[in-house]
Amino acid sequence: MSEDRVREQYEAYPYPPRDPRDEAKRLIEGSPSDRREIDHYVFAGRRDWRAPFRALIAGGGTGDGLVMLAQQLADIGCPAEIHYLDLSHASRNIAEARIRVRELKSVTFHHSAIESLPRLGLGRFDYIDCCGVLHHLADPAAGLRLLADALSPEGGIGLMVYGELGRSGVYPMQELLRMLGESEPAERRLELAKRLLRQLPATNLFVRNPVLGDHLRAGDAGIHDLLLHWRDRAYRVPELIALIEGAGLAPTALIEPWRYDPASYLADPKLLAPLGAADRWQRAAAAELIAGNLKTHIAYAVPKARADRAVADPADPGAVPLLKGEPGVDLARGLRPGGRVTVKADGLEARFATVTGAGPILAAIDGRRSIAEIGKFLAEQDSKRWTSAHFAAEFAATYRLFNALNRLFLGRPAGAS
Ligand SMILES: C[S@@+](CC[C@H](N)C(=O)[O-])C[C@H]1O[C@@H](n2cnc3c(N)ncnc32)[C@H](O)[C@@H]1O
Repeated sequence: MSEDRVREQYEAYPYPPRDPRDEAKRLIEGSPSDRREIDHYVFAGRRDWRAPFRALIAGGGTGDGLVMLAQQLADIGCPAEIHYLDLSHASRNIAEARIRVRELKSVTFHHSAIESLPRLGLGRFDYIDCCGVLHHLADPAAGLRLLADALSPEGGIGLMVYGELGRSGVYPMQELLRMLGESEPAERRLELAKRLLRQLPATNLFVRNPVLGDHLRAGDAGIHDLLLHWRDRAYRVPELIALIEGAGLAPTALIEPWRYDPASYLADPKLLAPLGAADRWQRAAAAELIAGNLKTHIAYAVPKARADRAVADPADPGAVPLLKGEPGVDLARGLRPGGRVTVKADGLEARFATVTGAGPILAAIDGRRSIAEIGKFLAEQDSKRWTSAHFAAEFAATYRLFNALNRLFLGRPAGAS
């Protein structure tokens, strides 16, 4: 029953709502599945993008992750073969139209449930994207195991699932709306939801949660996805880690890393010291409890056997720093020597100190120079200041911060091995 209702919902309300004509104006980039993140957290920054690359977009919806990855791979001339799979025809039509507008040739579309993947006989993938889908499956653990079985041993996966604490107030609203109109048709349920939203008291948990906005930003589809969904569940960090490990995978990152670090929120050493002995994912669990605003969790994961060699190493002088967002020169321009960077996320503002060399280092990042070449380039300009020891320390600090902020990754220049 729920299976059909989930399918019907995404036929009637493809999510997120997208107009293929907008592809002429902008590329939506995000996480997971940005090529730079995949490089860094799945392929240790060492993938040769001239080699064929097989990807599966599992539950691709209206195509955000699909379009981003297909376009980014086309931009670097990667011979990609991308398979899109979803159980909603309406969503697939939108995704397909977006791919057509961009004249991308790498994508094959399949109308199928994730649960039927083995029957499609598509073979193994270097990378699988599953964003915002597992939490809608009848058995998310079985679904992820199926995806893990379809990964090549050297491959990896990018996931997004809902975060329990950031969604506080959503599930009582879903429960209430089921009480008010479970057996009503979709349009009537939508009308009831809109009516209810206008009349809720200020004490309602959903009203009190300032980080939820899909019902305001994403129209009727947003209201359906958030408040009228027939099947969704949310995860705390420990549950997500258990889900990943249960599929024979190991997590390599939670995105954005700074949001999963208790030290991003607390400065008191007496509060941080007890977490000193905790492992990375326990610290992430504590950060989630402190922040309270993580409404989704984005993770990269690889087969357990290669967990210790999947993530790029900033101590590798041949690695090439790659920036996401504004170019390094623009990023550097807005930074005073030793100044602070401010980041905002879901109602929270955090400030981080930078080292004095962060500006020149960021300005020297052009997507081609390796770490060693950046050191050499700076030393050519001021050899007294940029000794190799000074550069190593300043680069390490700059990398630590901007990688944590999800801006800086390591790879190889496109077209190089
Ligand atoms: C919230 S949308 C996310 C779409 C897309 N991944 C994104 O991030 O924009 C969830 C999508 O999962 C699809 N879906 C839900 N259950 C599925 C299943 N069992 N197999 C395949 N797709 C499924 C829905 O049709 C819908 O398009």
